Amino acid sequence: MSSGVFRKKTVAELTKGTSPLKRTLRTMDLTFLGIGAIIGTGIFVLTGKGALTAGPALSLSFLIAAVCCGFAGLCYAEFASIAPVAGSAYTYSYVAFGEIIAFIIGWDLILEYALGAATVSAGWSGYFVDLLKNLGIHIPTVLTAAPGTTTGVHTIFNLPAFLIVLVITWIISVGINQTKRVNDTMVILKLAVIVLFIICTIWYIKPHNWTPFSPYGWYSTHAGSKAGIIPAASIVFFSFIGFDSVASSAEETINPSKTLPRGILLSLFISTILYIIMTLIMTGVVKYTVFSKYLDAPILAVLAATGQTWLSIIVSIGAILGMTTVILVQLYGQSRITYSMSRDGLFPKFFGDVSSKYQTPFKGTWFFGIVTAIAGGFINLNILSELVNIGTLTAFILVSAGVLWMRKTQPDLHRGFKAPGVPVTPIIAIIFCLVLIAGLNWETWLRFVIWFAIGMVLYFAYGRKHSIMNNQ
Ligand code: ALA
Repeated sequence: MSSGVFRKKTVAELTKGTSPLKRTLRTMDLTFLGIGAIIGTGIFVLTGKGALTAGPALSLSFLIAAVCCGFAGLCYAEFASIAPVAGSAYTYSYVAFGEIIAFIIGWDLILEYALGAATVSAGWSGYFVDLLKNLGIHIPTVLTAAPGTTTGVHTIFNLPAFLIVLVITWIISVGINQTKRVNDTMVILKLAVIVLFIICTIWYIKPHNWTPFSPYGWYSTHAGSKAGIIPAASIVFFSFIGFDSVASSAEETINPSKTLPRGILLSLFISTILYIIMTLIMTGVVKYTVFSKYLDAPILAVLAATGQTWLSIIVSIGAILGMTTVILVQLYGQSRITYSMSRDGLFPKFFGDVSSKYQTPFKGTWFFGIVTAIAGGFINLNILSELVNIGTLTAFILVSAGVLWMRKTQPDLHRGFKAPGVPVTPIIAIIFCLVLIAGLNWETWLRFVIWFAIGMVLYFAYGRKHSIMNNQ
């Protein structure tokens, strides 16, 4: 029996036995799952703030965030190929560093997935309310946003955000096949709308809008806040969050050691190309300063400038679908992480209970679905999104460090996929993550420390005692 908080699992332990979850996912499904999780609020909403922060050099900010995620993605892919079981970074750190670090990461991933889904649901609600308005349907203003979201506007509760999370929770809870079908359809529509946007607007680029290309340089202060390419990269980092959730579906994947790395990298690559083309078009068609009037829907500034307002409704629908799939994949990832933690005894059994009817962790899915819906209905987005970023960046750092550590301590382990350029690759990933974390404000750091402390209390009060490793 091992009682130390750094007790580790072995890869053999992890991969033995059969999983009660159904194996149905292939590379294309995972790529779709990845794109479903990646393209959403970041490109449809945050590009406005990003353009004001970096100017036309916003595409460089996207590139920097993409490089960070690309290097971290290679590390995720290597780990996913060593331990192709549900649980993503949580499971990997159980093998590399031991139980307490694994718990911390699992606890962190709740920030990324559940709070991430809550954040996106509020962004979804903004577009949805706007679309309904265009169609002549009005929702009472008090029910369209969390309290105190807009100065001078009285709001109590974000009803659309609350409801969309519950609907998606239902879809996920009744089974992976339904999840796959809904996700694939929406991803195809989302990509079609983005391609349509590119084709219709690329002809309107005026190269003089690109000068000055980088009005605030790499890092500076403008109007009392951080400006430049790096601070913008810290903002748009959110656009890439989600590719790692592909790794959470390892136990539902056919031939995971090959399929997982391919799915992760392919989805990241496709999204990055689309982001860079889109931001070059956006800052080329209109002067970047114009986005100050379009912070909620920057894409619509471009369509207004080209006179193609007919496209606005189609693009809004694309944005809504885009954000729907993000919420879907995040809630899916959330239920699988807590499923794994519960199976290991670190969380109560309730979360790991697989429904015999649907073959999904039904109760855990609903628990987090309801918590996320309430968070989306009541909590301010800006606070949420920074917490999501810091939680995710911390997970990326630990996964990258884990790859370094595993190569050193267990060099002979079978790896279906080996990240190229180790040790440089994980070291670059870690450096990029630290730079992006440094761009976040101190309040976020403080909130993160409080979240961490709550997690530690739970671990020592419950997880450590109930861990199945106690009986081994
Ligand atoms: N990457 C996801 C989005 O941009 C979280 O919505």
